[in-house]
Amino acid sequence: MSERDDVTAAAEWTVSDLVADQSWRFQLSDADRSHLAAMIAKAFDPDRPLLAYDAGDFDLGPAQATIAAAVDEALHGRGLAMVNGLPRAGLTEKQFELLNWAIGLTTGVPRPQGRATQYISAVRDVGTDYRAASGRGFSSNARLDFHADGADIVTLGCYNKAKAGGESMVSSSARARRQLIAERPDLAEVAHRDFYFSRQQEETADEGACYAQPLFDVCAGRVFGKWNRNRVQSAHKNIPGLPPLTDAQRETMDLMDDILSRPEFMFRMWLEPGHLQIVNNHVLLHSRSDFEDHDAPEKKRLLCRLWLAPPGSVRLPESWGDFYRSIAPGTVRGGIRGHNHDAAARAFEARIAAHHGMPAPDYDWGARRFAPAAE
Ligand SMILES: [Fe+2]
Repeated sequence: MSERDDVTAAAEWTVSDLVADQSWRFQLSDADRSHLAAMIAKAFDPDRPLLAYDAGDFDLGPAQATIAAAVDEALHGRGLAMVNGLPRAGLTEKQFELLNWAIGLTTGVPRPQGRATQYISAVRDVGTDYRAASGRGFSSNARLDFHADGADIVTLGCYNKAKAGGESMVSSSARARRQLIAERPDLAEVAHRDFYFSRQQEETADEGACYAQPLFDVCAGRVFGKWNRNRVQSAHKNIPGLPPLTDAQRETMDLMDDILSRPEFMFRMWLEPGHLQIVNNHVLLHSRSDFEDHDAPEKKRLLCRLWLAPPGSVRLPESWGDFYRSIAPGTVRGGIRGHNHDAAARAFEARIAAHHGMPAPDYDWGARRFAPAAE
């Protein structure tokens, strides 16, 4: 904890900071919107799989600079950016998905997000039990614990709002760390040591059922945060052989959630249709309230989610390696490779990496340095 930790100071915001200076909000113009709608109309082919598209198939035109500035704010500023005014009206669900895909491909290398090796997830309620051993939040309607997603950057494009609920919450992990150190330095020490996070039964053959990561680390002056109560509890409940959580760990977990949800630290926002939220998972944690859907299928809550490895990413701490499998800056890392990470998926990732001038992914990296724990 003694290492310099001031590079990520902008991400240690309070709610009043975000309200006082809203330059993390970006607005697309009518001309931007028209360009993006025309781009999708031209590129959309219902028979073409997403992985068959290239980054070069999309030119964001006048919207490019605004979206790049928003990504930069997420990566190197406050960790949060909202882009308002995507062309939602007139786009079908699949066309809106392609628009999110286009923004993703021009921003970085999409990362797979689960057992099915999906590179884009439809965030909607299909009745998943979030608390089950294999549960995931995105496909449920539950209130979610504060958590980081499994990649450097997550983008959420809103197609439909819920009938009620589904409010988005973000809280700065970098700020929570500062608060924890001030309030309970003993628990801050605990938070800088490993916790076990369940992979929710989505692991590949060379991964263990869980991975180890501290809740905080510092690398090259940057604070890194990680948290997900559901996965920690799931690991200790469902995976044999793990040592039980200590009283100090439980106390740390409770104080973490307490700090993250205090009104001065937890920022609440509504994602409206056409909004794109961009979050840096290393400095912010996010959550959402439970929600009630409309009855009509075409009106049900739907967000398009991408996980991205951008070329401008920074070096990660060594302790992030078990999950991310690469800690070098500007590399293809993170994600949940799942059970269909086949030759086509690898070729896709290498192709998009090359477009961004990033090295081809090194799939053996994690296995070499972080052998799965014997179970
Ligand atoms: Fe999430």
